[in-house]
Amino acid sequence: MPIHDLPIGVFDSGVGGLTVLAAIAGLLPDEHLLYLGDTARVPYGTRSPETVVRYSERVAGHLMGRGIKALVVACNTATTWALPALEATGREHGVPVLGVIEPGIQHALALTRSGHVAVIGTEGTIRGGRYADRLLELRPELRVEQVACPLFVGLAEEGWAGDDPIALLAARRYLAGLVDGPDTVILGCTHYPLLEPAIQAVLPGATLVDSAQATAQATRAMLQVQGLLRPAAGARRVHYLVTDNVERFASTAASFLGHQPELVEGARHPELVDIDERDHLHWRSALKGQPAA
Ligand code: DGL
Repeated sequence: MPIHDLPIGVFDSGVGGLTVLAAIAGLLPDEHLLYLGDTARVPYGTRSPETVVRYSERVAGHLMGRGIKALVVACNTATTWALPALEATGREHGVPVLGVIEPGIQHALALTRSGHVAVIGTEGTIRGGRYADRLLELRPELRVEQVACPLFVGLAEEGWAGDDPIALLAARRYLAGLVDGPDTVILGCTHYPLLEPAIQAVLPGATLVDSAQATAQATRAMLQVQGLLRPAAGARRVHYLVTDNVERFASTAASFLGHQPELVEGARHPELVDIDERDHLHWRSALKGQPAA
């Protein structure tokens, strides 16, 4: 099969990365897509950096083992801790790798007028400080605030998103310190766009930056540069993998992808996969042409 016919791999700890998948699907309608939600291990945001790297490497290994032409890390926590490791693996196997942080930053920089920017994300993403470091590296005069909102991930996974009263209460509690503050707020977790109505209700004057669109554009640019875009040649396929809780993923995903019938159809029947350590070792050995351990 020609390389450009392979799918783009996209992964997250759960349903959050679907916000990025939907943006990529919209911008690149001819591309085959392979999404993996690591629902057996969600949340990533409260785990140690070492654990996030280990989980991310297993997921990336599984996707590369199935055959992908590019990998989009649709998870800020995984991008924060594991991007360099995943890029190194990608280089080894000729698979370009893209994270969500840099595209989101570029988008925020283009939008802010006051120079006061906030980043909200998981505990891991905020502790890792990649957003703040990079924003200040690019524009040292910025004022950058960071707030971890760990409950948002559980709310999104539960389907209590949108402007659900519980989402609204959580947003009020977490974001109280930002009211009348930043003009630009980066949703530094791919689950958070699902709570956008609640976040916007608490911060009506702020522009919310969802990195999904910017990441989709960066994905297109990356494929273009590498000559990997799929020519319009027949319908594309969208396939979903999850590591646990197929039904829960299917129902939550379908409600979030409501405006994209083609994506919803695929999400209704995700495939359950086991990405344990043995598979990972097997994949590494197979790629290196060695017998599996
Ligand atoms: N959606 C992910 C992120 O962007 C991870 C959330 C989690 O698993 O804690 O950070």
